[in-house]
Amino acid sequence: MDISSILQGGYQHPVSRSWQAKQQLTKSMLMYPIFITDDPDARVEVPSLPGQCRWGVNRLEEFLGPLVQKGLQSVILFGVPLKCLKDMRGTPADDPNGPVISAVKKLRSLFPDLYIACDVCLCEYTDHGHCGYLNADGTIDNTPSVARIAEVAVNYAKAGAHCVAPSDMMDGRVKAIKRGLIDAGFGNKCTLMSYSAKFASSLYGPFRDAAGSAPSFGNRKCYQLPVAARGLARRAILRDMEEGADIIMVKPALPYLDIIADAGQLAVDHPIACYQVSGEFAMVHAGAAAGVYDLKTMAFESVESMVRAGATLIMTYFTPDFLDWL
Ligand code: PBG
Ligand code: ZN
Repeated sequence: MDISSILQGGYQHPVSRSWQAKQQLTKSMLMYPIFITDDPDARVEVPSLPGQCRWGVNRLEEFLGPLVQKGLQSVILFGVPLKCLKDMRGTPADDPNGPVISAVKKLRSLFPDLYIACDVCLCEYTDHGHCGYLNADGTIDNTPSVARIAEVAVNYAKAGAHCVAPSDMMDGRVKAIKRGLIDAGFGNKCTLMSYSAKFASSLYGPFRDAAGSAPSFGNRKCYQLPVAARGLARRAILRDMEEGADIIMVKPALPYLDIIADAGQLAVDHPIACYQVSGEFAMVHAGAAAGVYDLKTMAFESVESMVRAGATLIMTYFTPDFLDWL
């Protein structure tokens, strides 16, 4: 055998195998997506998301306390309004007594070191379930959508969010949010994480169940990116960097590792985030339940692949599991 043919000597031991990664997965790279509902005492399981619940504000201590003990460092909040009246402008999104703003305040006081991000979108709060305002013909009315989304983001920052993360995919929202944050005095107090390359994926189904945010008609293909659109994703990433995003996100994650790698090259000096979305999580669970693979092994394989592609921040429903496993 030729000397240059032999690679196995370099990774024969678990320790030397670990050295083959440029970046190791650590607990601080994980952000846990959580659903907050407007019944303060609720703890309701989401059938399509194994082990995940919608939580009321009064239950957050029992829910997150043990996870913070195990090293949970960050969460991203999604509001699930069930009792309120949804309307065309998504009024409940920043209701001062609504689930997201109440939860931010509660979490800030319960867990002073926890980093709290808020997803910013209107689809959970509009009567039509779309992520922005609509024209009479059902198309997106971009300009007022952006103004409203920036207003919601600033209100989350005022409530104490460390990070606002717009997932709506309206054009120009990053610039409007950044401007809004600066003008309200939060330029140096709140991170802007943009869902920059968010694709029109089939993998959001369980989330839409959990959040009650499925569109009442049509789909999101006019604002979320076409699956095959690598160039458009690159343009969206560059655009959001120019508009002032502090963190660039790719979503979903596993089917879009090439986009994560592109983001790492285009945004060399930004943190790169990816979102292992609800359908990816459900898929890993379903495969394990069907005997296709071992759950923990596959969870690691999926997330370590995202790290290999260049992600340094991973939003995943597996966060509680990884806090035990790592
Ligand atoms: C809403 C939003 C969605 C997700 C995050 N924010 C769903 C959608 O765009 O329909 C998906 C998250 C997941 O599937 O886990 N804008
Ligand atoms: Zn939305």
